[in-house]
Amino acid sequence: MRIILCGFGVVGQSLVKLFDSRSEDLYAEYGLKPRVVGVFDSKGSAVDISGLELEKLIEVKKKTGTVKNYANTKNNMSGIDMIKNLDADVVIETTASNYKDAEPGMTHIVTAMKRGMHVISVNKGPLALAFPSLMELAIYNQVIFKFSGTVGGGTPILDYAKNSLRGERISSFSGILNGTTNYILTNMANGLSFETALKDAKDKGYVEADESLDLDGLDAAAKLVILANWVMDMKVTMPDISCKGIRNVTEEDIKKARKNNCAIKLIASCNKELIVEPKEVSVDDPLCVNGTLNAIAFTSEHSGTQTIIGKGAGGMETASSILRDLLDIRQEIVKI
Ligand code: HSE
Repeated sequence: MRIILCGFGVVGQSLVKLFDSRSEDLYAEYGLKPRVVGVFDSKGSAVDISGLELEKLIEVKKKTGTVKNYANTKNNMSGIDMIKNLDADVVIETTASNYKDAEPGMTHIVTAMKRGMHVISVNKGPLALAFPSLMELAIYNQVIFKFSGTVGGGTPILDYAKNSLRGERISSFSGILNGTTNYILTNMANGLSFETALKDAKDKGYVEADESLDLDGLDAAAKLVILANWVMDMKVTMPDISCKGIRNVTEEDIKKARKNNCAIKLIASCNKELIVEPKEVSVDDPLCVNGTLNAIAFTSEHSGTQTIIGKGAGGMETASSILRDLLDIRQEIVKI
């Protein structure tokens, strides 16, 4: 499986580590032999990684801030040229999400699909802004488009709803889809002020570089868009979400919730309308998880309400979702 890896941050590096540590059993158990034919970050690129040690690539990135110093510099192609010119089976998009124009991830994905390459994205931006059109483009170009890691990190929330509840009619769902705000709200419930809880979350490295993505609910809204399209077949994008973050949650709100045997959680819900907002949730509800955990409850016609809980982020966790997607793609290709 020839791979072009777009972005070499925490997730890209974790994926390479995963490939390195599992190479033998991935081949023995699943017949999967991942080969990174090209990787790029915002400063440059490296090609022909197959002959090089992936771990050294990580070392170079850590020391010099880019992968380009490892490669033969005369081959320092731009990322987009790499996607346009290299032969690969799958393009894995791991650059940072943004919800203004979703670039550069959008161009990476569209270019790869137009060239007939399968795509795995853990970047939420392109899906949040253009899910319906990207699905159409994938179908038109007969490529497989996977994005398990965009919701729930390594927790298979999308697969659970789509595959485990296959045949069921899901009528609604609601959940905690952002670990950072859940961590802050949990600490506020334990007596910290919003400012102190935010500082602690920043110190622990949980908060996105652009804190607004977490605090103003944009990250949760993007995940809600992806779920609504994938699980409910709704053709929606970011502007369809009514979104309120946690900046205005007060200590009084938290105290009032506690009196009601509840906690305030940032809830993303799909029940006719698509809404992200802070809400009181009973502490006895399985949805009421603490710390950085994510949780989502699906209500379906015959199976009642089922809640799935797990870690919503993390390099290795998200890399494991990419591996799941790769295995699915391999299975599909072998069928063809
Ligand atoms: N900022 C996100 C969160 C990261 O806190 O859940 C995972 O998408």
